[in-house]
Amino acid sequence: MKIAIGADHAGYRLKDTIVPFLQAQGHEIIDVGCNCADSVDYPDYAVPVCDKVVSGEAERGILICGTGIGMSIAANKTPGIRCALVHDLFSAKATREHNDTNVLAMGERVIGPGVAEEIVRVWLETPFSQGLRHQGRIDKVKALESQYSLHP
Ligand code: RB5
Repeated sequence: MKIAIGADHAGYRLKDTIVPFLQAQGHEIIDVGCNCADSVDYPDYAVPVCDKVVSGEAERGILICGTGIGMSIAANKTPGIRCALVHDLFSAKATREHNDTNVLAMGERVIGPGVAEEIVRVWLETPFSQGLRHQGRIDKVKALESQYSLHP
């Protein structure tokens, strides 16, 4: 799978653990940075990852900051993105089955690399349930994107 990944200065260490983990499983990675501890702004890395997912250049996106919260807020401003902030395996599976999320956010200051790798693995492997009730709810969220883009 082609996966775009980005992080801020509080998340790049976990990103640099996740990237080789994914490459070892045969995934193709587009790493948009950042790559050092110099202070940066998380939206500057959320945007290129989300753009690649919406355009189809990448099938999924992964975003990491200190808490994952800033990245998830920024990502969910992008029409077409459904980003889940996940720090446990139950949510990693459920958000794929129920929300068909295409971007995953995590916080380097919240979980360790072992848990993060398992979350990523489960999130990538779990298919959308195709359940009609879940699709209907996703469609309602999509309708909100249209509504608020017309009336900001
Ligand atoms: C950076 O200090 C931190 O605020 C950022 O990584 C993130 O946690 C924001 O939500």
